[in-house]
Amino acid sequence: MCGIAGHYGSSDTGEVLLDMLKRLEYRGYDSTGAAFLSGSDISTVKGTGDIEKIKENVVFLGSVADGGIGHTRWATHGRASDENAHPHSSCENRFSLVHNGIIENHRKIKSELGGHKFYSETDSEVAVHYIEEKSTLGVENAVVSFMEKAKGSYAVALMDSKEERVFLLKNGSPLAIGIGKKDVFIASDPFAFHSYTDRVLFLRDGEYAVVDNCDVTIKNLDGAVQKRKPEVLEWKERSFGKNGYRHYMQKEIREIPGCIERLEKLLETVESEKVDGFIDALLGKDKVVLTASGTSHHASMLGSRFLRKVGVDARVVVASEFGENFEIDEETLLLAVSQSGETKDVLDAIETARKMGADIASITNTPHSTIQRRSDVNLGIHAGREFCVAATKTFTNQVYTLRKISKRIRGRSSVGNLPSNLKNTIKKNGEAVKKVAEELKNKEDIYILGKGEMHPVAEEISLKLKEIAYIHAEGMMGGELKHGTLALIEEGTPVISLVPRRNSDIVSNLKEVKSRGANSIEISPFSDRFELPDEDEDFIFFSAVLGFMLTYWIGRKKGLPVDRPRNLAKSVTVR
Ligand code: M6R
Repeated sequence: MCGIAGHYGSSDTGEVLLDMLKRLEYRGYDSTGAAFLSGSDISTVKGTGDIEKIKENVVFLGSVADGGIGHTRWATHGRASDENAHPHSSCENRFSLVHNGIIENHRKIKSELGGHKFYSETDSEVAVHYIEEKSTLGVENAVVSFMEKAKGSYAVALMDSKEERVFLLKNGSPLAIGIGKKDVFIASDPFAFHSYTDRVLFLRDGEYAVVDNCDVTIKNLDGAVQKRKPEVLEWKERSFGKNGYRHYMQKEIREIPGCIERLEKLLETVESEKVDGFIDALLGKDKVVLTASGTSHHASMLGSRFLRKVGVDARVVVASEFGENFEIDEETLLLAVSQSGETKDVLDAIETARKMGADIASITNTPHSTIQRRSDVNLGIHAGREFCVAATKTFTNQVYTLRKISKRIRGRSSVGNLPSNLKNTIKKNGEAVKKVAEELKNKEDIYILGKGEMHPVAEEISLKLKEIAYIHAEGMMGGELKHGTLALIEEGTPVISLVPRRNSDIVSNLKEVKSRGANSIEISPFSDRFELPDEDEDFIFFSAVLGFMLTYWIGRKKGLPVDRPRNLAKSVTVR
């Protein structure tokens, strides 16, 4: 994971890097750092914690620099520590390097670098020493040699103080180059520099770029120059900031009704033909396999149910479990669902499925993502940028999109009162949610029961309770309770049940837990705790939103870092 940033040119490097690193924090925030080039000197500042900690030094050193590279880290190899923070320097301090990804054969490479002093436990540090070692052959040759040798995925920015150039290396992990009038910007995600330029070159796997005085040359490993024009990206960022809310999560939950309303309009107007094309791709194959991770997996579980209901042979496979043993062939459409469009498990599943002959469709939120670019057909969910690590408005828009597709296949499609019902749900339940959050905040285990379409929602709420409220939670099929888990229910155990209708089967499971003394909390239109619309078909959305609000308030009441939970990152770009 991790985010890479870089800048070279006439703008103030300190200000630019600071801004870019803030925008990349969703990729990790264990530690951060930057290195600056002034003349032929490199100055480095780095440490544990987020960018705020080193902000002043970044601004100061950057203000007098010609260029710089920066990094925000999510620890994989080596804990979060000052030493493990990037950039890493070579022994002679000629080179400084930031890396995103995993260099799988780093131990072997390190064993061949006798005489070099290593300061960190990271896999990344071997790259800077290796290139220094081989630089007697010329830096460019050393870079190529490293790329031929390294196994795994990487995006690397390497600053060479002697020749005052920056090298960018890519295999597997994303790296974008923004072309300004008098500046070059480097980032793991073009969103980081989009307020400076909309012209972007995406580096491809097996390519490296040389940034020399604002000239960018891209080459492949044979040294052949890869000429291509920058793509001009269309950006429609609505807001970057909390707009008066304490947390992004709170703001993003509030945005849900508007996001669905806007999505519906788009899908019915400018995106309508795209939806038809997407449906043609879906129906043109014998079967559809949905794949995704985390929250997107829960949306996909719902998606496969919607599709099966309208006669599509659809099944769902969690991306990290995707393998060659699944029945995938030329008659399969792999449907990848991802908010970020960068999740490594999903990208690996795409690669495997492609090799087995499948076509690839995807549903993504972040524009211009790798998954979008690797798909034959793509639909955007248009939820706007989501900053909180926990996915909320993107979950509801994913589910809405998948339901919309299924409804269109059946020929029926209307938004009904969903946005206004959701607005009311959020408005009317604020106090009730806070009360339940107070009741649950010190609990260690919570069970969430759902049946049928409510089961993925129960799983989703349990994921949120773990991620945001640090409470062990289990989302399960209500009917499975009596097959084992019931043994854990005792006096006061909190059990949340998702009850869409009075006559739902789940009601009997609810009675089972109540009679064992559980603290039963019903999310239902008939509950005495909450006020929810009695609209069976949309209950998925009401219960999910209420679950999000509840986890938010538990996390907030516990004083937890709701937007940036420990050990996690928004975009999971490692396997
Ligand atoms: O970007 P993606 O949708 O592919 O991300 C998948 C998961 O990492 C993500 O949904 C994760 O589970 C969320 N943090 C949950 O809130």
